[in-house]
Amino acid sequence: NAIGVQTASDASINGDREEHDLCNWDELKFSLIPTDYMYVMKCSSGEGAFSQGHLTRYGNVELSPSSGVLNYGQGLLEGLKAYRGADNRIRLFRPEQNALRMQMGAERMCMPSPTAEQFVGSIKQTALANKRWVPPSGKGSLYIRPLLLGTGAILGVAPSPEYTFLAYASPVGNYFTVSLGSMHFSVEDKVYRAIPGGTGGIKSITNYSPIYKAVTQAKAKGFTDVIFLDAATGKYIEEATACNIFVAKGNVISTPPIAGTILPGITRKTIIEVASWLGYQIEERAIPLEELMNADEAFCTGTAIAIKPVGSVTYQGQRVEYKTGEGTLSETLFRTLTGIQTGRIEDTMGWIVEI
Ligand code: COI
Repeated sequence: NAIGVQTASDASINGDREEHDLCNWDELKFSLIPTDYMYVMKCSSGEGAFSQGHLTRYGNVELSPSSGVLNYGQGLLEGLKAYRGADNRIRLFRPEQNALRMQMGAERMCMPSPTAEQFVGSIKQTALANKRWVPPSGKGSLYIRPLLLGTGAILGVAPSPEYTFLAYASPVGNYFTVSLGSMHFSVEDKVYRAIPGGTGGIKSITNYSPIYKAVTQAKAKGFTDVIFLDAATGKYIEEATACNIFVAKGNVISTPPIAGTILPGITRKTIIEVASWLGYQIEERAIPLEELMNADEAFCTGTAIAIKPVGSVTYQGQRVEYKTGEGTLSETLFRTLTGIQTGRIEDTMGWIVEI
């Protein structure tokens, strides 16, 4: 048994406090607030499929020092949210898309993955078990973080003999608290997030820490985040640390195509669909950096950030600014997206899974 779950004691941090008393809902940030339960499911050696999972108290996990995930980074993450509407109902947004993306990533990383039914079932149970932690309408959401980890012991460089699926949750507010209005980017031209043939197109846990250095340096200079360029030519924009990017010029909205180095964001996919219903021309194609520097508007999308306007981009000392706020395209798209997610706008697409 490579992973064991420590059971939280009755005197856990959360205790039995009432919903209104749990935390200060007005001060939520994108940071961890431990909740009550997590979901665990295993795929043991030779089985090839995940067996029935279960809820357990949220707590530390125990791993073999030689587990595949600790030694060789064999792991995937996902992210999705549960939203409480003004009607007090709780909705998940397109969870089957996260299931499919995890399956795609698992195939690339030589891991077995839960079926879509197991995945969505586990997310519903995690959200329900932590229902009191879903923030009041308008105050934030419950972020659910599924993980798929190679937890079996392995010393040689090879796929782990055993896997664990885990899902935990935390109430969250805005991802970027330092720049509530818009994002200020620098363009990174020395460090690359993804390479052709690499893992940039899946949510491998190994995609994030290699870019900390570039992002930390940009933040120290006052930027919110960085925009990465394609590693093959250095001419085209790819994405930011944890979100996809769109540029708008006139009636045309463009975003880099899903071709191995771009993360197939579920908000990205949704925005492409919503913008085309709203009558915009949408193009998925390679976008030269100059085009971003000459755009009317730019915005980022992601589960954690939703949609956020780009206020400025700086490249080699040249800074350009964009329209933000009232009357912008990103504002219209933000209202539509969050309207569907919270039940304010009717879900005609079957995107919502109510719990
Ligand atoms: C998300 O937007 O949910 C992400 O996964 C990005 C990041 C927080 C890892």
